[in-house]
Amino acid sequence: MRKPVIAGNWKMFKTIGESVNTAVSLKPLVSNANHCEVVIAPVFTSLKSVADRLEGSNVKVAAQDVSDQLKFGAHTGEISGDMLKDAGCSHAIIGHSERRAMYGDSDAFINRKLRAALHFGLTPILCCGETLDERDAGKAEQVVSDQLENDLTGLTADEVAKIIIAYEPVWAIGTGRTATPEQAQQMHAYIRSWLSGKFGAGLADGLRILYGGSVKPENIAELMNAPDIDGALVGGASLEAESFARIVHYNG
Ligand code: 13P
Repeated sequence: MRKPVIAGNWKMFKTIGESVNTAVSLKPLVSNANHCEVVIAPVFTSLKSVADRLEGSNVKVAAQDVSDQLKFGAHTGEISGDMLKDAGCSHAIIGHSERRAMYGDSDAFINRKLRAALHFGLTPILCCGETLDERDAGKAEQVVSDQLENDLTGLTADEVAKIIIAYEPVWAIGTGRTATPEQAQQMHAYIRSWLSGKFGAGLADGLRILYGGSVKPENIAELMNAPDIDGALVGGASLEAESFARIVHYNG
């Protein structure tokens, strides 16, 4: 069975002190959550301090991005997967729609970042999702499968098996407008069948596909009821330890 993943993306919020405080508050609230993996993604500058405080706990630490570069060198502003491991990360979010839309992360670039993350043994959380215009035009599935096709180009099935996918419809991010469980389930099932066609049913059955976009304590349970939703990537509602812990404990 697929072990659910509940991940919090803290985006560009929280100083080091605030990140540590939230992480320290979260730790005891989720220490008995054996039903799922718990991951938080603070900003780069907070990673090491947060990871140190969470050592030995069941809360894992993700970076929000990773350099595509495999070797140390003259790459101003970049942070390698190696360095993220050194800072205590086990996961890296890659291809978030905010990076795609605001910072020019193309599918080709995301593909190189995925390879770099895998090279260094980080678990990628690969984001995909359509805009409202694309959905309204009936192109949501095409957009998502094009993203996945290009993002996963050249990766072996063994590599793809290590990835967590996060379906985040852009129109549901930070808008309060969550996809209905039916809409999310439909896309998750589509992604899984696409993966099955590409990499085989065994791989597709084992891959975790998270939903992201206005997930809250109030709507997580019904989302998690859908058979192909294997967890959540949570933005706003992950910033407070208590609210995020309620999402982690979606099963009551
Ligand atoms: P919200 O939960 O704030 O909608 O953000 C979702 C998201 O972008 C997580 O990566």
